[in-house]
Amino acid sequence: MKLSLQLPLLLMVAAKCQAETRKLLVGAYSGQLTTLKFDTVAGTLTQLSVNTQGSPRPSWQTLFKNSNGTNLIISSSEAWDGRNDSVVVLSVDANGALSMISRSTPGTVVKGPVAVAATKSGLLISASYSGGVNTFSMNPSTGLLVTHPLNTFHYNLTAPGPNPTRQETAHPHHAIVDPTEKFVLVPDLGADHIHIYSICPQGLSELAPVRVAPGSGPRHGVFNPAGKFYYQLNELANRVDVFSVAYNPNIVLTSVQNISTYPTGTTPALSPVPIAGEIQISSDGKYVYTSNRGDKTFPHARVAPSPSTELTQSDSITVYTVGADGQLTFLEQSPVAGLTPRHFSLEPTNGGEYIAVATQDTGRVAVYQRDKVTGKFGTVPVASIDMATLGVSQPPCVIWLD
Ligand SMILES: *[C@@H]1O[C@H](CO)[C@@H](O)[C@H](O)[C@H]1NC(C)=O
Ligand SMILES: *[C@@H]1O[C@H](CO)[C@@H](O)[C@H](O)[C@H]1NC(C)=O
Ligand SMILES: *[C@@H]1O[C@H](CO)[C@@H](O)[C@H](O)[C@H]1NC(C)=O
Ligand SMILES: *[C@@H]1O[C@H](CO)[C@@H](O)[C@H](O)[C@H]1NC(C)=O
Repeated sequence: MKLSLQLPLLLMVAAKCQAETRKLLVGAYSGQLTTLKFDTVAGTLTQLSVNTQGSPRPSWQTLFKNSNGTNLIISSSEAWDGRNDSVVVLSVDANGALSMISRSTPGTVVKGPVAVAATKSGLLISASYSGGVNTFSMNPSTGLLVTHPLNTFHYNLTAPGPNPTRQETAHPHHAIVDPTEKFVLVPDLGADHIHIYSICPQGLSELAPVRVAPGSGPRHGVFNPAGKFYYQLNELANRVDVFSVAYNPNIVLTSVQNISTYPTGTTPALSPVPIAGEIQISSDGKYVYTSNRGDKTFPHARVAPSPSTELTQSDSITVYTVGADGQLTFLEQSPVAGLTPRHFSLEPTNGGEYIAVATQDTGRVAVYQRDKVTGKFGTVPVASIDMATLGVSQPPCVIWLD
């Protein structure tokens, strides 16, 4: 008797736990960090709060769960003035409001920080497009920057790369901590290699880099959840390089495949030339997604289920299936409701049911519902917002807060 009474109660509790709203954080070159509420039932995106403490140009944000489970945001400010280039740590309250905890000392961050990564123990690694990498130690419970910077690496080239306008100097573009949290990878778009570092008590110690084909322009990378493969997105060549991952005891990357971000294997012949943006992998490791900036593949992209407003142009995301051997097979290309999808994020919970895309040049944030079985997310977003209506322009980053 007791059992039959308890079962429906448990089911009701489980059903109630499926939150109907989610929060997104959008960074923008116009200076704001905007928290949006995504209502999954109404299909709307609305502003919850706005913070300008990450200014002047908060172009990259990383979510960090502190040791007591509170969400912190680590944001880099791409000022390019040698003074306000910075790394900023902010707290997030239950309503999505941000508040600054700590900011790096003026003049310490190499100009043009474009990405920042963190280890669980609070080592921050920021990559600067002007040619450097900084590390900081952050107290992992309070979010206070303790030592800043811990290490600074400067890079330059002895001669420009094959694409001299983009490869005139070194351009560190991303920092990726490996799943063992013992190594850090920094793709360098100018140098055509991936800097490799081991994590030591004093920060980072540099190891030999991994080279990619000349003119590739390595930009962003991602490990698969099992840590057996590393996917390197090359911005200039519009190509993903797949590496198997081993430890010897240092990390060893072995090239196993390369594949274009376009189904034809060739970048569309447009001016300006399309350039790859972001790469992500689903939490089940079965699908890889890459964004294509400037390919304008979709002439009639929808921005909402209703009304059936159409854009005249949209760039795209390429979807690949991942084989048991880690290799990628092209699945499809989908529109992103705008131009220049510099960044997108798969919802980190619920197996990645939603995918949020920020289109930098059209200023729209769109959310698509992803079919977790097929990996596809269709052509019509379930919600989208023109960030200009909130006074925000050029949003290069969108992440999920829950
Ligand atoms: C840079 O920082 C200085 C000092 O905090 C401030 O006066 C200046 O307005 C900042 N510049 C920008 C572009 O935010
Ligand atoms: C939890 O983290 C928040 C944000 O850093 C901090 O304000 C708070 O003091 C922490 N609580 C405990 C018990 O450490
Ligand atoms: C790299 O070297 C070139 C040539 O010596 C120089 O012009 C440039 O300023 C250097 N760049 C950096 C970021 O140091
Ligand atoms: C891609 O892989 C093919 C086949 O292994 C190889 O011949 C080619 O050199 C590779 N291209 C690049 C740019 O790595």
